[in-house]
Amino acid sequence: MRRFGLLQYPEKESLSKKIFNQYFKLSSINAKYDDIVIEPRKFDTKVTEYLESYDGLNVTVPFKEDIIKFISPVEDAREINAVNCIYQNKGYNTDWKGFYNSLLDTDLKLPILLVGAGGASKAIIYGLYKLGIKHLILVNRTIEKAFKLKDFFTTKIDITVESFENLKEVMKSSKTFINATSIGMFGESFNFSSEELSNLSLIYDIVYNSTALQKQALKNGIKLIDGKTFWYYQAVENLKIWGVYDEVKFYETFVNSKFN
Ligand code: ATR
Repeated sequence: MRRFGLLQYPEKESLSKKIFNQYFKLSSINAKYDDIVIEPRKFDTKVTEYLESYDGLNVTVPFKEDIIKFISPVEDAREINAVNCIYQNKGYNTDWKGFYNSLLDTDLKLPILLVGAGGASKAIIYGLYKLGIKHLILVNRTIEKAFKLKDFFTTKIDITVESFENLKEVMKSSKTFINATSIGMFGESFNFSSEELSNLSLIYDIVYNSTALQKQALKNGIKLIDGKTFWYYQAVENLKIWGVYDEVKFYETFVNSKFN
C-alpha cells in the first residue's frame, strides 16, 4: 500500500484526508492518506521519520518554510520560500500552481485587491505574477506583514499596501477581490454591504466552507471562485506529482463529496 499524508499542527481533520481517501477507493488505487500531527518543538527530530516512511507528503501550517532544509525545493518553491508537497525528496509548491490554473479561463479585471499576508498569500501573489499581473493592492490586519511581502516580491510585482481600516474604501474601486485570510472560517466574517461590493466582477475566497462573503457574491451576481475550487486545483497538482492522477475519477470524487 502507498502512503500519503499531511504534516500539520494543531490537529484539524483535513479536506485532503477526506477526499483523497474517497478518491483512492473509487479508483482502486491501493493507497491511504493520513493527517499527521507534529508538535512544532519536535519537528526537526520527527520529520525525517515521515519523509522516509511516506511515499508522498503535503505540508501545511506552520511547517511550509521549516520543511525546506530537509528536502530539495524546486525553483518555484524556492522563489516562494514555501513547500506544500513532497515527492522523492523534492519539495514543490502546488498552491501557486493550483491558484494559477484555477484562473486560466478567467479574464482578471484590474485593480486586484488581495487581503491577507500569510502563507497562502505568498503563493497567490506568485500565481498572480505568473499570470502576468504587474500590480496589486495588498491589505492585511498586521500591516508590517504586508510590507514584508511587498519587499519579498519587489522584483516581480508592484504592490501597494493599504491599511485594514481602508479596506471598504479600496474595495469600492477594485474589480477583483481575493480573500487569503481565514476570515469566515471560524465564526467572524466580512461585513460588506451590497453597495460596497457593487464594483466587483470577481470574488475569490480561499476559505473552504461556505462563508458569508461567498453567499453575498452569489446574491449580488458576482462571479465567485471558492476555497473548495482552490483546494481542488492544488490537489490535482499533488496527485500529478505523486503519479496517481486520474482526471475523470478525481473530478467525480470531488463533485460527489459532501464537504460541510
Ligand atoms: P495561511 O497560511 O492560511 O495564509 P496564516 O499564515 O496564519 O495562514 O495567515 C492568516 C492570515 O489571515 C493573515 O493574513 C492574518 O492576518 P494577520 O497577519 O494580521 O494575523 C489573517 N487573519 C486571520 N484572522 C483574521 C481576522 N480576524 N481579521 C483580519 N485578518 C485575519
